Amino acid sequence: MKGSHVLPIQIDFSIDRNVNELRKLLDRVVNDSPVLFFLLGNTLANFQRDTKLLQTLSQLMRREDKLLIEVGTTEELSQEVAQKAADEYARTKSFREFVTSALLQNTDLHIDLNSVFFEASIEVDKAILIKILYRNLTENKIQVMLPDRSVMDFENQDTIRLYLTRKYTSTGIQKIISDSNLLLVDSLHIKIDGSETLAKIVL
Ligand SMILES: C[S@@+](CC[C@H](N)C(=O)[O-])C[C@H]1O[C@@H](n2cnc3c(N)ncnc32)[C@H](O)[C@@H]1O
Repeated sequence: MKGSHVLPIQIDFSIDRNVNELRKLLDRVVNDSPVLFFLLGNTLANFQRDTKLLQTLSQLMRREDKLLIEVGTTEELSQEVAQKAADEYARTKSFREFVTSALLQNTDLHIDLNSVFFEASIEVDKAILIKILYRNLTENKIQVMLPDRSVMDFENQDTIRLYLTRKYTSTGIQKIISDSNLLLVDSLHIKIDGSETLAKIVL
């Protein structure tokens, strides 16, 4: 794609007001042609309120627009499968570095990669859920400085949530789509080395 055809916009797209402003901007820069939006890389799974996020993003769309969503999927919804997925993340040092990067950037915490915990659970009829936490294992209260120089008490054994991810069942993701007043028009299911991806085009 030509650089001149790329318009980078930095916004928090989980906020309704931002999405409405983005729609106004698009009205000025694109004509009436239909737009294909993308939400790729299992991004939906990172939001605690994933249905709310999709409802917010759906406000960006006009009747003729489409949205391509890519999510990680699972065929089985069991604690065993959830634990297996959590263990896979836990084994990867580069993933521990990735999830703690926000702490590195925004706090003066001395980061210990062995203080990262992976909790697996099930969201009924929907997804396996993996929560990644940083736990204070120092036996002491730590005073953590934030970018605005304010100080937060991080008590012994308390946790900071670093990341949230899921693998959806087919019915789970379909319910999120229909609860967002979107209509599924096509889907493609790909299996790569045992891990699964589901791409859905919704209207
Ligand atoms: C899982 S990554 C996917 C990146 C890319 N779409 C891909 O497939 O490689 C999720 C991206 O969403 C961004 N993100 C997360 N929450 C956001 C928010 N509320 N507003 C804007 N961007 C957000 C993250 O910074 C990250 O770049």
